[in-house]
This record gives sequence, structure tokens and C-alpha cells, in this order.
Amino acid sequence: MKDSWIKKGFVDEPVDSQINLANRIRDLVKEKNAVILAHYYQDADIQDIADFVGDSLDLSRKAAETEADIILFAGVHFMAETAKILSPGKKVLIPDQMAGCSLADSCPPEAFAVFRNEHPDHIVVTYVNTSAAIKALSDVCCTSTNALKIIQHIPEGQKIIFAPDRNLGNYLNSLTGREMLVWDGACHVHEEFSLEKILLLKSEYPDAKVICHPECVKPIRIVSDFIGSTSALLEFSKTDSGTTYIVATESGILHQMKKANPHKLFIPAPPKDSTCACNDCKFMKLHNLKKIYNTLKFEWPEVSVPEDIRQLAEVPIRRMLDWS
Ligand code: 13P
Ligand code: SF4
Repeated sequence: MKDSWIKKGFVDEPVDSQINLANRIRDLVKEKNAVILAHYYQDADIQDIADFVGDSLDLSRKAAETEADIILFAGVHFMAETAKILSPGKKVLIPDQMAGCSLADSCPPEAFAVFRNEHPDHIVVTYVNTSAAIKALSDVCCTSTNALKIIQHIPEGQKIIFAPDRNLGNYLNSLTGREMLVWDGACHVHEEFSLEKILLLKSEYPDAKVICHPECVKPIRIVSDFIGSTSALLEFSKTDSGTTYIVATESGILHQMKKANPHKLFIPAPPKDSTCACNDCKFMKLHNLKKIYNTLKFEWPEVSVPEDIRQLAEVPIRRMLDWS
């Protein structure tokens, strides 16, 4: 690979503007026995060429069971890392290495190890939005889809540390009354929704229901009609009898909501400090079709996890899959 690619974190090679990128990507997928897994927060054109689109729990299950030789992960780094941890014999590719996660970054392993050692009688539950090094320090992982189930699986009276998302942790405390010790981390996207702008939209669309991800701050959760993981929000949009929704999570999910409900109206909840109407994850949105094409063609950038960390990190992820 070239030095310029390493510096940029992706394959920066020109692509003939005449070719149909979507078709060429699908040809490469077949040729190389690859599979493209995409998170709901990807752009619509990426979701449409993927073999499977899902939330972080669905994607980790798919990564564990795929027969493909290559997994191309159109999501953020911790998701691709989880795929590598579960399928160490496969080549795991990510179209842009800079696709990190502000929530995962808010929990550095050195500081977390100190925190954990200060509370040796606590079981450690971590949201999958963490690095492999944090998972290696954990007893069980969870995603926003199964977090409640995982906490309820732990015997009453057992003390719990929950990391890294303070909003999801506080929401779970309010549902379970467990008073878990919650790490003070957060996601830059879900903390940014503007309550004032959401209330303004509510007055414009009085019949609209507000639906939000549990990573949102408490005032947003309080005004919401439904709170759930990405896949739970999508499911709600299909089964609920309403017709208009203000959606407080990353705007990529609106693609599947609109596809499944062509006659309903979905309005992205706006962020505070921006003139933009919707709130994008700048990491998720680093990927595009050109990068995916070049990644499959040159089989780079590849995600790797040191074997000692991988073995430790696999235990809490497998435990999560067993418990959910
Ligand atoms: P899901 O667990 O709903 O896929 O959420 C992942 C995520 O990154 C939320 O910001
Ligand atoms: Fe991480 Fe937030 Fe982006 Fe999800 S939306 S990947 S939690 S930064």
C-alpha cells in the first residue's frame, strides 16, 4: 500500500467515472466471496448495495455466522473490530480507517482499568461502542437493543459498572432501579439534539410523535413518545398507527423508515449548533461507494486486533450473544 493511503486512512485511487460503481462493487463481492455489512447510519446508496443492513446487535450476529472470506464493514471502527473478534479467520475491511466513534473515545482503557480496579466487587457491563481493549476489561457487553435484558439477567443485589454512555446508563437505571455506577461518556450526535427545535417542530406538526435513541439526553427522552435502539425505532415506525414522526437519532435510519412506510412522514430532529436540519455522525458518513470499491479491489484497510486482546474481548461479546 502507498504512504499516501496510510496517511489518509483509505485507498485514494482514481476510479473511472464511466463505470457503474454499485454494479462493480457487487461484481467484486461475488468474485472475492465477500459480504458487505452496513449499519443503518450509512448513506442510502451504501445501504442499497449491502448484503445486510442492521443495528449493532444484528451486525455482530451476522459477522459471527457469515461463510464469506472477506467482511467489508460499512460502519464505525468498533463494529468492524467486533466482527474481527468474532471471526478472527476472516479478512475484515473498513472503507475509511478514520471512522471512529466519539462515544468509544470517551472511555480510554488506562483510566477505565483504574476505575474498574477501584470497584472490584462490581460486574462490568459495557456497551459495544467501545474499543477491543475496553471489551477485554469487561464481563459482558450489550447494545442498545439488548441492554435491558442483559442488566435484568444479572442477579438483584450484584453491583454493576455500566460504561461508557451516561445517557443510556441513566436511562437503564431509571427503568431497572439498579443504581449502576455509570461511566461519564457520551456520543457527539445524540447529545446535540435541540429540545427547543424539537418542540417547535411539534407545534408545526401537532400529530407528530417524537421517537429517540436512548443515547439522547434526559430532556429529549422525556418529550419522546417512544425510546429505542435503531432497530426498535424502525420496528415502531412500521407497527405504530401514527403518520408523522420526529426522529431523534442519526439521520441514516430515515432511509429504511421511508422505504418501509412510503405514506408516512419522517422528520429528522435538528441539532443545537447548526443550521442543518438533521444530525449526522461524521464518522459513519466518512464512507462512500468509491472508497468501498477501492477497499474491495485492493483489500485494504484491514482491521486487526492483537490476539491476546481478541481472546479476552471475545468472552463478553459471546456472553452477550448467549444472554440475548
Ligand atoms: P444501535 O445499537 O442502535 O445500532 O446504535 C449504535 C450506535 O452507534 C448508536 O449511536
Ligand atoms: Fe459513535 Fe455516536 Fe457515531 Fe454512534 S452516532 S457511531 S455512538 S459517534
